Amino acid sequence: MLYQNPLRPLPGTALPCFVFDSHQELARHVAGVVAGIIRERAVQGQKAVLGLPTGSTPVGMYRELVRLHEQEGLDFSNVVTFNLDEYLGLGPDRLQSYRRWMQEQFFKFVNIPPENIFIPDGLTPADRLDEHCRDYEAAIQRAGGIDLQILGIGRNGHIGFNEPFSAKNCRTRVATLDPVTRRDAASDFFSEENVPLQSITMGLGTIFEARKIILIALGEHKASIVREAAEGESTPRVPACYLREHPNASLMLDSAAAGQFTAITTPWLLGKVDWTDALIKRAMLWLSQKSGKALLKLDDNDLREHGLHQLLRHHGPAQSVAHRVFRWMMETIEYHPAGREAKRVICFSPHPDDDVISMGGTLIRLVEDKHEVHVAYMTSGNIAVFDHDARQIADLAAEFNRLFGIDQVKSQKLLTRVASSLAHKTAGESDGPEVLAIKSLIRWSEAKAGAIVAGCREEHLHFLDLPFYRTGTIAKKPLTGEDIAIVRELIERVNPAQIYVAGDLSDPHGTHRVCAEAIFRALAEIERDTRGRPEVLLYRGAWQEWAPHEIEVAVPLSPRDLALKRSAIFRHESQKDSALFPGADPREFWQRAEDRNLHTAAAYNQLGLPEYFALEGFVRWNGIPL
Ligand code: F6R
Repeated sequence: MLYQNPLRPLPGTALPCFVFDSHQELARHVAGVVAGIIRERAVQGQKAVLGLPTGSTPVGMYRELVRLHEQEGLDFSNVVTFNLDEYLGLGPDRLQSYRRWMQEQFFKFVNIPPENIFIPDGLTPADRLDEHCRDYEAAIQRAGGIDLQILGIGRNGHIGFNEPFSAKNCRTRVATLDPVTRRDAASDFFSEENVPLQSITMGLGTIFEARKIILIALGEHKASIVREAAEGESTPRVPACYLREHPNASLMLDSAAAGQFTAITTPWLLGKVDWTDALIKRAMLWLSQKSGKALLKLDDNDLREHGLHQLLRHHGPAQSVAHRVFRWMMETIEYHPAGREAKRVICFSPHPDDDVISMGGTLIRLVEDKHEVHVAYMTSGNIAVFDHDARQIADLAAEFNRLFGIDQVKSQKLLTRVASSLAHKTAGESDGPEVLAIKSLIRWSEAKAGAIVAGCREEHLHFLDLPFYRTGTIAKKPLTGEDIAIVRELIERVNPAQIYVAGDLSDPHGTHRVCAEAIFRALAEIERDTRGRPEVLLYRGAWQEWAPHEIEVAVPLSPRDLALKRSAIFRHESQKDSALFPGADPREFWQRAEDRNLHTAAAYNQLGLPEYFALEGFVRWNGIPL
């Protein structure tokens, strides 16, 4: 349990950092702080002035504030809000406009008087921009300054759109977006070149005048920058470091975002710890890696020289603790992950390619072990298909119809409509229903082909097309009972002994974590009604692998398995340009998948465990939502 009440900050940081077990818990806490300020100000007969961010991070906080308004009568009539920023050149009619985002996520559900809402105007003419920024500052002053400023953080450490090396005292102004920021926003705009070059943002000086500041960070993709912001040397490269100088600023993190702090990775270096089995394992694997020695070659001196005196005193000698950890690690290796007796299993794949990318080798193993392997594709994945691929398939279909004399008039009309819809699409706008359907079809056919290469049978592939994803844009709807019912129906129909779920620790409002939540909620319902549930193994998603100290099941892959897995991934032709996607690693999916499997095998080998060619890692789900 990391979440404590009252909250205690993590030790060893230069800025108070509070870690929560789940993003929901965190959202409830921060919304509670906001609500507290609103109520306190109301009692004093005053206005509560809030500084607000957009983005994926605060979504949970806004939802909780809406809940407090609807169910607990939280009154927003005394609230004044100032948003941090807006893209320059974007009006509220545009999908990506922050004004529109705030309206759809928050303002339309609560009773903040419209005249109390301030957001920089992205359509301000060039010759009026300076004046507009000055007016924004003046409006903050008139409101009496900001009581509580909520912030997110960019992967480059920006707050608002104050990019690396922004001056500590800068004010509201036009700022140029950093390449990292533009890459990260590319998926919202369907391509990097559609992302505006500039924004209007509150300055660091403006932000730091707030009486209280809470920066929220969620997901493992924020772990490294959050550590830089709050631990080690302060640097102007990471503007969030300046928060250290504010008398009332804190960081609120989920456990994934806190994952790189010393207090989490190597807490024994900061003082006394409670030596649980998990921590003993972590410490010994860390020591083995740091000293370059296999587990069973570690001696007492290695522990002493690396600050592990306490471990030596309580669990030594080195040989004995190393043996324990060695045995635990050996027990993770599982050539038959679902056992030797034929069973039914379901692999849940959030997008249509996560199955083969993240656990293609295990699928091959399971099929070879004669299990009935079902794959459930949870979303269509249509927004990740390029327009040129949709155009190509529409052409092919029309030509196919012509060749075989199939309804010429209808076919040509459709092709013309699709071609014109693609040609006239404004940059950054979503596709019409026909183009989206074609894009879904592309991914459907690739998923089927990939799973068949891995040995699965067509009749065991399920395309759930969950409603939460059907927006045609990156922003998704919240999960509803309809999504859960679809997942539950499949689990009850197939009645598997084991299921595999993408257990990413990424953005909680991203597709993988929302899909995992849908499965966990369906399982909770099933468990409540039947008192049982299948065994659940978590794979890590397309971008990362579990670290050896986390892995509970490691499935060995032979060179042949890996070659077959590669060929299954190759079926996902439309995704081979994934390296062009935001923030992308230039390697293609098959390369990243192979690297991580080879890397895990090398890590096991370095620990002095058997030398495998490649390993896929899994964690057993402990029943707690991610
Ligand atoms: C948004 C803003 C940005 C975001 C940051 C994190 O108004 O000012 O600084 O807070 O880029 O974005 P997400 O939450 O989408 O990861």
